[in-house]
Amino acid sequence: STQHNKDFLECLTDQYERTNSATDVIFTPNNTTYAFLMQSQNLRPTSTSPQRPRLIVTPFYESEIQAAIYCSKKVGIQIRVRSGGHDYEGLSYTSRIPFVIVDMRNFRSISIDSKEKTAWVQVGATLGQLYYTLARKSRTLAFTAGVCPTVGIGGHFSGGGYGMMSRRHALAVDHIIDAKLIDANGQILDRKSMGEDLFWAIRGGGGTSFGIVLAFKVELITVPETVTVFNVTRTLEQNATQLVHRWQYIADKVDENLLLRLFLNSDRSPITGNRTVAASFTTLFLGRVCDLLPLMEREFPELGLVEQDCIEMSWIESTLFFSGLQNQSLDVLLSRVPQTFYSPSYFKGKSDYVRQPIPINGLRGIWRFLSEEVANMGQLQFSPYGGVLSTISESETPFPHRAGNIFMIHYGVSWERAGNAELQRHLNWSRRLYSYMAPYVSQSPRAAYFNYRDLDLGMNNPGNTSYRQASVWGLRYFQNNFNRLVRVKTEVDPSNFFRNEQSIPPRATW
Ligand code: FDA
Repeated sequence: STQHNKDFLECLTDQYERTNSATDVIFTPNNTTYAFLMQSQNLRPTSTSPQRPRLIVTPFYESEIQAAIYCSKKVGIQIRVRSGGHDYEGLSYTSRIPFVIVDMRNFRSISIDSKEKTAWVQVGATLGQLYYTLARKSRTLAFTAGVCPTVGIGGHFSGGGYGMMSRRHALAVDHIIDAKLIDANGQILDRKSMGEDLFWAIRGGGGTSFGIVLAFKVELITVPETVTVFNVTRTLEQNATQLVHRWQYIADKVDENLLLRLFLNSDRSPITGNRTVAASFTTLFLGRVCDLLPLMEREFPELGLVEQDCIEMSWIESTLFFSGLQNQSLDVLLSRVPQTFYSPSYFKGKSDYVRQPIPINGLRGIWRFLSEEVANMGQLQFSPYGGVLSTISESETPFPHRAGNIFMIHYGVSWERAGNAELQRHLNWSRRLYSYMAPYVSQSPRAAYFNYRDLDLGMNNPGNTSYRQASVWGLRYFQNNFNRLVRVKTEVDPSNFFRNEQSIPPRATW
């Protein structure tokens, strides 16, 4: 495999010289930049993966990516593409077999057409950069996508993109109107030349499988000049159980301008000193406080929201608020390294969809999990659906979780101490909780959100994988859209050049 490296490096250098490309975009483990490029917020994938990338390429030009594809084929070494590097299982920067990383960080330009209300966004840009760039243009032009500003466009837009406006404006993928992609033959395609099947597949069918996306063109949305936010926390002593129970009956049904997201944390009670549970209702209302208060009084009076809890601000300020960056200057949105909560630590996430309210005793069981010492840094997020999300058909994009879902659950646990014992303890907690939840969540298949990637759901083989094996995880993420994704993959990449542990398999390998 040392020969592999040498061959790949030689091939790429040769290609770059021929096309007069700058060869200083190739980083081997001997470069100091390599270590910088390998830094990630989630230490779990790199701590358990035996392989390090043989080299990292950070292209500026399309031809440099085409050359990497060419050499990867020639030498037989796998490519992993990384945009923002936030993959939950680290699949953009770890692999079980020899690989190189094509890191898209230099493909990060954003061009906005305010008149047409569209934007071309390159994949290496982050959500924060997109929000920042929009805010610079206008107070009311915005986009609907995730909350954490350091998430990359490339991975995020490939798998869905849920955020605080999703009940009103749906997901990032619902607004993609064109794209630029390099396929397995090194050809550069746009919507017209790739055709509607492939264009459909890359809007939610997950990164990796269909090619390397260079940029997405999106339709922008319009938001009011002033929006209202609040974050109200209630402990068990303050009736959290009843409030969370009640929330399930309104969260997906209220006015679609209102998104009440729920965070459940384990916390130490200031009164008893014991571990307890705190429920935070984190909310965006696309309107003014004078309209929000009567709405809350009508729909969710139990919460006891008062005017003092609410803050009016611009939409861009709300993106700072939800990522814990309130009162900081907007420039903080441009950082590629998280500025809050997430100092590098070990992290495991999982997801579920809830179609019927969880009864009180079911919630009490969740509280017991959160009260365990191991869940010290554990958290559940309940993200409401409904609104516009349930008006879009399940087959419109590969993202299938539409009508009928009340909310999505995100289970997260992080920890700071290295070592296998700690790893197993936390994985075990997360799996026990997941198995406890089975009776309360969607079934046959038990659905999951692709962007909260979870390898516990099933994996491909390093080489070829049967349809049957891949459908174990594929049907959970994509439901009835999985078969169409397999058809598209078979057409555009029959040799399975672009692959990872959870990529769509071509039919040739059934
Ligand atoms: P990364 O670069 O790791 O890529 C993810 C996957 O896509 C990998 O398999 C990669 O190979 C592939 N890929 C990347 N770029 C590609 C390209 N150009 N072409 C083809 N394939 C490509 N989600 C959400 O919906 N709402 C939210 O609010 C959040 N919040 C959030 C916070 C934090 C802290 C994390 C870590 C994650 C989230 N997410 C989220 C989940 C997030 O949407 C998901 O992890 C995305 O895949 C991340 O995209 P990146 O480009 O950063 O990841």
